Amino acid sequence: MNAQALDTAAAESLLAFWRDAGVDACYEDAPIDRTHVAPPPAVKAVTKATASVVALPVTGDAAAEARRLAAGADTLEALGEAIAGFTGCPLREMGAKQAVFSRGNPQAPVMIIGEGPGADEDDRGQPFVGKAGKLLDRMLAEAGLTDRVFITNTVFWRPPGNRTPSPAEQAACAPFVERAFFLLKPKAVLLLGAAAAKSVLSTDEGIMRLRGNWKDWRLPEGNVSAPVMPTFHPAFLLRTPMAKRAAWADLLALTARLDAADA
Ligand code: URA
Repeated sequence: MNAQALDTAAAESLLAFWRDAGVDACYEDAPIDRTHVAPPPAVKAVTKATASVVALPVTGDAAAEARRLAAGADTLEALGEAIAGFTGCPLREMGAKQAVFSRGNPQAPVMIIGEGPGADEDDRGQPFVGKAGKLLDRMLAEAGLTDRVFITNTVFWRPPGNRTPSPAEQAACAPFVERAFFLLKPKAVLLLGAAAAKSVLSTDEGIMRLRGNWKDWRLPEGNVSAPVMPTFHPAFLLRTPMAKRAAWADLLALTARLDAADA
């Protein structure tokens, strides 16, 4: 093998290593030679499996802008447009192709909130359309909820490398999530996974403790509230089939509560 072929093989091997570690997106315009340049100071890393994908801080102005845009939307459709025009969430500049707001029935009695869009959602512009979404859809169908749900996420742009969104990124998007809750006025809310549960319920408690227990979500303004059921994320269920039984019990508890409210 000549020197160039060796270089190519080494570069391909390194790329494969990063891909397997979950790094599948770049968000800088130009490469950074980290062998010569010191890393930027004190940017808090919130990553699943990578050191190079970092969360950037969100300014107070961004949160204020999100609240202003959200308050101006009087329908869920208008809210989707407001989100698409919002530039304050740093995830937007980290390689996401488009904003991903919602799918489902805009008059649904159940609001479902996941963590954030993945690669399939980023491609198609709708939440939960990949493998985890297919499992979610099957569970909803079995529970008789297919047309009775409105599905969204805590953030509307795909976090690079599918890392968990940072609390600051979730906070930047929270006024839109709250506005969706206000406009939909659901009878019950299903929170999928720890990141959604922690963000919506403002708690540090883990999903193992939270799941299966009803909580209350009440907006400070507007007199809107609903019972909330935290449960496991469908991506976790795909990796941990034994947890499906508990998630199914949570879904049945939610349908029972809906049916009781309708009776
Ligand atoms: N996981 C989420 O939390 N949300 C999606 O939309 C897809 C996968």
